[in-house]
Amino acid sequence: MCRHVAVSTRDLARDLPKLTVRCKQRKGATMPTRPYVIDELISAKTIAARVEALAKDIHDAFDGTDKLVVVGLLRGSFVFIADLVREIDLPVEVDFIEASSYGNSTESSREVRILKDLRGAIHHRDVLVVEDIVDTGYTLKHVVGLLKARRPARLKTIALLDKPSRREVDIQADWTGFEIPDEFVVGYGIDFAQRNRNLPYIGKVRFTDDE
Ligand code: PRP
Repeated sequence: MCRHVAVSTRDLARDLPKLTVRCKQRKGATMPTRPYVIDELISAKTIAARVEALAKDIHDAFDGTDKLVVVGLLRGSFVFIADLVREIDLPVEVDFIEASSYGNSTESSREVRILKDLRGAIHHRDVLVVEDIVDTGYTLKHVVGLLKARRPARLKTIALLDKPSRREVDIQADWTGFEIPDEFVVGYGIDFAQRNRNLPYIGKVRFTDDE
């Protein structure tokens, strides 16, 4: 089934007062205000089944832990982490970290900066880093390096989506929900210019002025 969520040009003009906005999946690029629809790519039901299976794998990997610190990368992972922790039958602490997507730097430098650090310490703790999507890989690689320097007992990573064709650095999540082609995706926490994070499914943006 293919569902569409129509977004009018008027809505875009209201929400995007500037002529261009940064598009998260084309970092450094600008995205004009264009009409688009969203085609469903991965249904809410399919995501739920995959999250349940991933939670079982995580349970097996960390079985016996006294506490698993589950770290969500803001903002995109907020839906995934909420669903995932409710399926993990272990003592869990939830924390968040926010990294800038290359901040004000140029695309070529790929500098990742931490905007919000963890509240808690992870030294000697078991840690699971939760990412919504691994694209170039810079964000996950940077965050993993930062957190490993704090000497956790064990550190594993999970990403709901992986776009291996976009990878620029050598990083692979320990668990991946779905490998996807280089499509512009939204929903289930992932945004287009801060919109569409609340869709219960993963959708693909299709610009209608192309048609
Ligand atoms: C997106 C996404 C990942 C990151 C992946 O976050 O949520 O964290 O980019 O990109 P990379 O693999 O190329 O580094 P974004 O910076 O857009 O912020 P958001 O999570 O607040 O949407």
